[in-house]
Amino acid sequence: MANTMLSQSAFRKLGNTGFDVSTIGFGTWQIGGGRWKSGSADECVGLLHQALDLGINIFDAAVVYGQYHDERKYPQSRSQEILGQAFQDRRDRVFYCVKVGQFDEYSHRSHFDANRLVDQVKQSLRRLRTDYLDICLVHAPSLADVRRGVAIEILRTLQALGLVRAIGYSFEAEPEHVRAALEQRVDVIMLQYNLIDTHCATVIQEAQAHGVGVLVGGPYKRGYLCGRFSSLEDLPQEDDYWRWNIQYNSGKVVETLDKVRALMNDHRSPAAFRGHALRFVLTCPGVCSAIVGHRSADELRENLSHSRG
Ligand SMILES: NC(=O)c1ccc[n+]([C@@H]2O[C@H](COP(=O)([O-])OP(=O)(O)OC[C@H]3O[C@@H](n4cnc5c(N)ncnc54)[C@H](OP(=O)(O)O)[C@@H]3O)[C@@H](O)[C@H]2O)c1
Repeated sequence: MANTMLSQSAFRKLGNTGFDVSTIGFGTWQIGGGRWKSGSADECVGLLHQALDLGINIFDAAVVYGQYHDERKYPQSRSQEILGQAFQDRRDRVFYCVKVGQFDEYSHRSHFDANRLVDQVKQSLRRLRTDYLDICLVHAPSLADVRRGVAIEILRTLQALGLVRAIGYSFEAEPEHVRAALEQRVDVIMLQYNLIDTHCATVIQEAQAHGVGVLVGGPYKRGYLCGRFSSLEDLPQEDDYWRWNIQYNSGKVVETLDKVRALMNDHRSPAAFRGHALRFVLTCPGVCSAIVGHRSADELRENLSHSRG
């Protein structure tokens, strides 16, 4: 296999934060378990170590990734616990990006009041076994929530206290939300941009002009763009994420698969298609890093090789 280690040039400045982040990041929703079938904690820790050794230095998590309730019925986050286990002795080599405000992995319900945000940041620090977060983002607020600006003010207070270094928002493919966020003082925005969801191309450049670092979550759109799925039957039923969507959201799933089939036509293999999908994101001006849900060592190595192709 070709050398898959990231080269020096595979790092970019994350806006004005002063952070040099790897162009390929690691999203931990998938390895957190929860709605995804995941390996054992030791396997996931091994995968994270491998990612760091190959040059990845930015790791994305949310309090609701891999959510479960402990014996006191208190919500916990397996993705964060695994990260804490993996990097407690290598903390200075990684950037943690943590999303707060949501409290249910299924419904995506959120609350951006001070008590909840402060508690979620404190619990994240405990699970990650650290005393600061590098990046803390308000997780998927409505446009009204962004304009209200209350959540970002709370994060700004935590930033002043030294608990978080950079703050911002995490959105879907929502240009209007990004524009509203750029009217405030933010350091980082995570958003969705991929071969299908292209509406944010212009605002990514606007963010860059404001000195705001842009992270793209999900360059393969949860795996739709990984070249393996062209019909409902191809979707992996072992993941609760896919089962739920097939059951409750099948119209949207079929519509997306139709788009994927049309896009895949021009590519000689699924791997070539994945390379195209990843490079599409990384060559968009203003994108600093693509946060990928790598689920195995093979996927990790291949994804890193695409970033250099
Ligand atoms: N604000 C946002 O924009 C946002 C939203 C959601 C998530 N995120 C973050 O972004 C991360 C990734 O986003 P995403 O959930 O949309 O996932 P993604 O990275 O677009 O796709 C991940 C899926 O693609 C498949 N895959 C990855 N590499 C592959 C390879 N080399 N060969 C074949 N299949 C491959 C895997 O499928 P299998 O599992 O079947 O192997 C994996 O589940 C999340 O973990 C999260 O941290 C951000």
